Amino acid sequence: MRGGQRQKGRCVSGQGHAWWEDAVVYEVYPRSFADADGNGIGDLPGLRSRLPYLADLGVDAIWLTPFYPSPLADGGYDVSDYRAVDPLLGSMADFDGLVKDGEAHQIRVIVDLVPNHCSSAHPLFQAALAAAPGSPERARFIFREGRGRDGELPPNNWKSMFGGLAWTRVTEALPIPGGRPGQWYLHLFDAGQPDWNWRNEEVHAFFGQVIRFWLDRGVAGLRVDVAHGIYKDPDLPDDPDPDHLLNAVNAPSAYHHRPELQQLYRSWRAILDSYPADGFPGARTAIGEVWADSPGTLRPYLESRGLPQVFNFDLIMASWDAVAFRKAVDGVLALADGSRAPWVIGNHDVPRPVSRYQLDEAFGPQTANRLVSFGHDRHERGARRARLAALLLLALPGSAYIYQGEELGLPEVADLPAAARQDPQFRRTHGQSLGRDGCRVPLPWTPAGADFGFSETASPAPSWLPQPPDWGGYSVEAQLGDPSSFLSLYRAALRLRRAHPALGRGTLRWVDGPHDAEGLLCFAREPGFVFAANLGQAAVPLPPHGEILLASVPDAVGPEGELRPDAAVWLSA
Ligand code: GLC
Repeated sequence: MRGGQRQKGRCVSGQGHAWWEDAVVYEVYPRSFADADGNGIGDLPGLRSRLPYLADLGVDAIWLTPFYPSPLADGGYDVSDYRAVDPLLGSMADFDGLVKDGEAHQIRVIVDLVPNHCSSAHPLFQAALAAAPGSPERARFIFREGRGRDGELPPNNWKSMFGGLAWTRVTEALPIPGGRPGQWYLHLFDAGQPDWNWRNEEVHAFFGQVIRFWLDRGVAGLRVDVAHGIYKDPDLPDDPDPDHLLNAVNAPSAYHHRPELQQLYRSWRAILDSYPADGFPGARTAIGEVWADSPGTLRPYLESRGLPQVFNFDLIMASWDAVAFRKAVDGVLALADGSRAPWVIGNHDVPRPVSRYQLDEAFGPQTANRLVSFGHDRHERGARRARLAALLLLALPGSAYIYQGEELGLPEVADLPAAARQDPQFRRTHGQSLGRDGCRVPLPWTPAGADFGFSETASPAPSWLPQPPDWGGYSVEAQLGDPSSFLSLYRAALRLRRAHPALGRGTLRWVDGPHDAEGLLCFAREPGFVFAANLGQAAVPLPPHGEILLASVPDAVGPEGELRPDAAVWLSA
């Protein structure tokens, strides 16, 4: 047991490192987790009442995606008030109660900070619209004159990440000398998400206050949304490859991975460090959402006391291939924070692993569309692979993030009706990209009932995204008593991870199999732990070992002691 880590109020463990370096963090999409008041939308009281479930599962912290007031142009990532709770999701008293109950369960709370953009309904953007071009109100955002004779063309060729132009033209409230039509504002995402101008001092001051507001309420950390965006080249030059975002290429550009970010993150780190717990700095953390083309692009974020952690999405981006997985792991471990890297196999933006792994290929913009042919109930291969990936995730050095429902083996709901879809990606591409609703369908808690226990009331409103009719089979209640269920695998793995001295932060040593053991992914960790997985198509011999501590599937190991395809084991050395 990593004793100190579970001690309430302590920020460093008995081994002298910060709690987040090897924490298991559970990502909550609040609108889809649990609905206390029966209006079909998950809420903070619902989450609060399910904390015992999360404590029992064995997680150290929860990260909540935005629960702030929002017109929901992008599932809450369009924030109209950074210091409040959306009334549909509860109140500030509910949030405070969540933090307090979390403490009692030894579960820390991480909140989402959305600094690249706000909602077009945010009072400061509304003030910018009401003010004249060139005004201090407009200077907080990125307004420009259009090109063309009458400014009818956008200021440059940038495209929105969700499809369509990254610019929207406004109608000026005030008459403009010469009678020109309006300026354009930049939005790398939806038109309802205007980008802040981070070259404006007031924007810095505003976010400093937002960060302190949540830290003062006792949150343990921030997840920084689009942490690789935020700053733009002040000249706003045309993009040589305007489709690169749509094609999921995340190389440095005029609006991604700008060098100015490092100074910003150092200043935020200083704020975090000014909140010591029990005299130890490092109790409050931040993790950046950084989509990058290579580990080299991630490096500057972590250097010189920048962000404590940045996500790597390398396991999501790797094709189903042992060599690709090993390369992904090596790249991240070579970074400065390699020993405490956060790993992730899914989140609210990518199709569920169980469905994604039906395919051999890496995740890409069309993956959700490619899954439609599988429906949501034919995914045996994907489920087997997702169980393997879960054991890998939890055995790698560092911390691990689990997206809600992964522990239930929920598949992507690829066949949602068009009328039910909410994701701006679907809307802005006119349905060409199905978008991300399929991984956001409300959780099933009970095998039966109108919404499979999502709501705790007797006759709830339909859930905001429809659940498939067989959803109850995946429910928590259906899985709890079944030793072969996904949930039982996650619970066993989390227990072992907590108890085993080799797991969590640290290093690994690759173990090679015989030459013909294609597909073997095997590493040892000290003291006395071996992970072995078979991503190939034929059985492979297991390396020398003591006992099998945990197997991803009951038939993982064959009669000759061979490891079967798409199976993994945790071994004692
Ligand atoms: C991040 C979020 C995603 C959101 C986008 C814009 O990538 O994870 O859900 O749509 O930022 O805020």
